[in-house]
Amino acid sequence: MEKTVRAHTNIALIKYWGKADSDLRLPLMSSLSMTLDKFYTDTKISDSLENQFWLNGVKQNGQSSSRVFSFLKLLQKKFAVTGKLKVESYNHVPTAAGLASSSSAFAALAGAFCLHYGFNLSSVELSRLARLGSGSASRSIYGGFAIWRKGHDDESSYAYALDEKPDIDLRLLVVELNNQQKDLSSTQGMKQAQTSPFFMPWIARNQTELKQMISAIKANDFSTIGSLAELNACEMHAVNLTAQPDFTYFEPATIKAIKLIADLRSQGIECYFTIDAGPNIKILSQLKNVKDITNRFVSEFDNVNIINASFGPGISCLN
Ligand code: PMV
Repeated sequence: MEKTVRAHTNIALIKYWGKADSDLRLPLMSSLSMTLDKFYTDTKISDSLENQFWLNGVKQNGQSSSRVFSFLKLLQKKFAVTGKLKVESYNHVPTAAGLASSSSAFAALAGAFCLHYGFNLSSVELSRLARLGSGSASRSIYGGFAIWRKGHDDESSYAYALDEKPDIDLRLLVVELNNQQKDLSSTQGMKQAQTSPFFMPWIARNQTELKQMISAIKANDFSTIGSLAELNACEMHAVNLTAQPDFTYFEPATIKAIKLIADLRSQGIECYFTIDAGPNIKILSQLKNVKDITNRFVSEFDNVNIINASFGPGISCLN
C-alpha cells in the first residue's frame, strides 16, 4: 500500500518575489511564512505503466501535469532512479487563486517522491528538493513559522523552522473574494516585477524587515507582526504597479477589502492584510476580533467566503 504525504500551505508574511536563478529557484531575498492548518495537499505516488497525474480525482494533461513531471524527472535524475509514476493529489486549497497552492503541492510531491523510493531525508534536505518545484514549497516542510534563507546556491538555499508551535494569538482569515484562476503566474509576475525602478529598493529592505519580523514574533507583538506583514505585501504589489509594463493582481474587490481593513482599524478593531499573486486578501487578526471582522466582510460583500485559519503542522506521512 502506497502511503500519502500531507503538506500544509504557507502564507508569507515577508515575501519572496524575485529570483536570482530560475532553474535552481534561488530567491533574491529571504522570506518568512506562517503554515496554515486549514489548507493542505495530500499526495500519493505509485508505480505505473505511464506517467500520469491526477488532481482531485481528475486526470490532468496540460500544463499542471508537465510541471509535475518535469519536477519529478529532475528528482529522478538527481537520485539516479527511474520508473513511470502515477501521482494522485488532493488539493484542499482553492487552486491558483493566490492562496499559494503550489507551496503545499510541491512540498507534498517532494515528500511523496522520497517515500516512494525509500529515501530518508532530513527536513533541510527535503526543503531544498521542494524548492526546486516551487520556491514557497521550501517553507511548507515546517509547521508554525518558517524562514527560507535565500542562500547563494542549491546547497545553501533552504528553509528552517523559526517556531513550529508558536504560542501567539494570531489568526489568518482567508477571504475568498474571487476564486478564478490567476492569469499571471508567480514566475511570470516576479520576472516582470524586476523591471520596476523600485525593485532594487525592495530587495534592499528585505534583511531589515525580516529581522524586525523575527523580533516581533519573538516578542509576541501582534501589532508589529501585522503592520510589517502589511507593509511588506504593499511593497511587493508596489513593484508590480511600477513594473514596465505595469500590472497588478488586484481586482476592484481587493481595493474595497483593503479600505475596509483600514476602516475597521480606525474603529479600534485591529487587523492587517497580506496579498499574494492573486486578488484574494488574507487578514491577520487576534481571536477576539474574528467575529466583528467576519460580520463586517459578510455585510459588505456578496457571496464572500472567509476561512478562519491558524497555525498548521509540518509535512507528515498519513496512514
Ligand atoms: O513559490 P511560488 O512560485 O508559489 O511564489 C510565491 C510567491 C508569493 O506567494 C507571492 C510570495 C511567497 O513568498 O510565498
